[in-house]
Amino acid sequence: MKISPTIQETHAVVRAARRAGKSIGLVPTMGALHEGHLSLVRAAKAQTDLVVVSIFVNPLQFGPQEDLAKYPRTFERDCDLLEREGVHLVFAPSTAEMYPPGAITLVEVKGLTDRLDGVSRPGHFRGVTTVVSKLFHIAEPDKAFLGQKDSAQSAIIRKMVKDLNFPVEIVVCPIVREADGLAMSSRNAYLNADEHQQGLVLSRALQKVQQVFEAGERDLERLAAAGKKVVAAEPAARLEYLSVVHPDTLEPLQQPVGPMLVAVAAWIGSTRLIDNVILQPR
Ligand code: PAJ
Repeated sequence: MKISPTIQETHAVVRAARRAGKSIGLVPTMGALHEGHLSLVRAAKAQTDLVVVSIFVNPLQFGPQEDLAKYPRTFERDCDLLEREGVHLVFAPSTAEMYPPGAITLVEVKGLTDRLDGVSRPGHFRGVTTVVSKLFHIAEPDKAFLGQKDSAQSAIIRKMVKDLNFPVEIVVCPIVREADGLAMSSRNAYLNADEHQQGLVLSRALQKVQQVFEAGERDLERLAAAGKKVVAAEPAARLEYLSVVHPDTLEPLQQPVGPMLVAVAAWIGSTRLIDNVILQPR
């Protein structure tokens, strides 16, 4: 497995692979890898010939009061895990490599960026789409593998790819959970044992919404209310949103027409957790 800190070298490796007729898969990450990330790597290995994993804690997507400085960094362990998965190339640039002095261009998917997490994290999604655009140009993947865990992020990147004609297919993979239901996240490392238990309220709330839906409830306000009630019963949780939205436009839905994304964000102490489920009306 090759580890490349530079754009030039990464570009050279993927270009050579392409000349040899190989397809390229990209898994963009910020490191601190867990089974959720590895599920994307396995999908990439199954569907493409040369798998590139990027590890870059992107400062552009963190707000001034957010956790950039304390974000978990476990680079050596990450590389061991990726090597075991048979990854071909890890692109791990410095901030200066990605954003040399004077870089001023941003990529923004207007409107979508202001929904769900975008409400409390202004500029976050613009940071994501900017770095992902760069990664797409650097790795030139045929397919890029994203997680449903970050449902708004996946929707926004899909829209960016469509609007800007990126020649890449976006593959969105299912949420990987701990045995107890907590959606895996690098930020789960911030939780102590009590907070981990308290964090289970997100998946419980979504399960409740799903149950109520399957029992026939079609009033979306009442559906959301059933989930909010579960969160309210956990005193340690501070709900940020629990919304029923269109999975592509992220717009709040009034009627159950087609698949619906139920997304939740809540704070447990100083850690912000997100989770979601898709409801399919039959
Ligand atoms: P990061 O949080 O490291 O996540 C990298 C990828 O792993 C994302 O596509 C995310 O949705 C996916 N992922 C995380 N937890 C998952 C889980 N439990 N199950 C399945 N997939 C999961 O998301 C980012 O990094 C960054 O915003 C990035 C796209 C790399 C741009 O900087």
